[in-house]
Amino acid sequence: NWTMDNFIEMEINKIREKVGDKKVLLGLSGGVDSSVVGVLLQKAIGDQLTCIFVDHGLLRKGEAEQVMDSLGGKFGLNIIKVDAKKRFLDKLAGVSDPEKKRKIIGNEFVYLFDDEATKLDGIDFLAQGTLYTDIVESGTETAQTIKSHHNVGGLPEDMQFELIEPLNTLFKDEVRALGIELGMPEALVWRQPFPGPGLGIRVLGEITEEKLEIVRDSDAILREEIANAGLDRDIWQYFTVLPGIRSVGVMGDGRTYDYTVGIRAVTSIDGMTADFARIPWDVLQKISVRIVNEVDHVNRIVYDITSKPPATVEWE
Ligand code: XMP
Repeated sequence: NWTMDNFIEMEINKIREKVGDKKVLLGLSGGVDSSVVGVLLQKAIGDQLTCIFVDHGLLRKGEAEQVMDSLGGKFGLNIIKVDAKKRFLDKLAGVSDPEKKRKIIGNEFVYLFDDEATKLDGIDFLAQGTLYTDIVESGTETAQTIKSHHNVGGLPEDMQFELIEPLNTLFKDEVRALGIELGMPEALVWRQPFPGPGLGIRVLGEITEEKLEIVRDSDAILREEIANAGLDRDIWQYFTVLPGIRSVGVMGDGRTYDYTVGIRAVTSIDGMTADFARIPWDVLQKISVRIVNEVDHVNRIVYDITSKPPATVEWE
């Protein structure tokens, strides 16, 4: 009979048998799937695993540090961190079209991963956090035609690796259970979905460092208050966006002319359709007050009350 315990044991044996004394490469995104694959592989083959983590500077507050501290520190994964913040910002400078931004981020990502991988000698396998649902849905996902999706760790076309996909018989909830069984922290295992292009598609239009900071800081406050209210498991996804409009406000005796921050929070089963989350007014109020008080250049908060369809979850 199937239990998580003997799934782990079986998978570890399978991985050891397949890999032998060869080397495996894994692209880490900070997401649940690639992290679980990393910890599982570490358990199975230890130092034969090398991970590449590309920090594109579009991650949420504290996320890169979390990956390095938790996976690199506590779990001892061998991680090569590619600091590419400036590179991405340079490439994205002056670009405001959402699809162009997505393409630039996706291409740059593959390029940097590829570049780093070719520096490594004697890698035979590439590990990926492909889930059962990814296989079933691939090719049928209509979102693909609406937005060009980018997934971290996608296989560069000209790479000659054999694939290792230890999660490809599992559903998301099983991957989470596996992560818990492997001793991974709840915050990582229950991490909400986060798009490959990251905050790059939550700063609408042209991306600047100042705007990224507003999204990053307001998002951190939102996450904190949603967790304080005990709503973090009920809401599928919650984040802030910066539409880039400014409006007039009043602070003390003075007029302000500052940015509006949008809050997006949705309930969903799979992201294909979604409904806006009915966050209690008093929680929203707390979030609103904190963001305006604590984040510079913000004087107005709006709540997105559209479902998907006709809107999408992300604004770009
Ligand atoms: P949309 O905005 O299409 O989002 O309604 C549906 C779900 O997909 C996530 N999303 C992405 N995930 N790469 C990803 O891995 C992407 O490029 C991407 N774009 C959107 C979004 O966060 C939501 O969960």
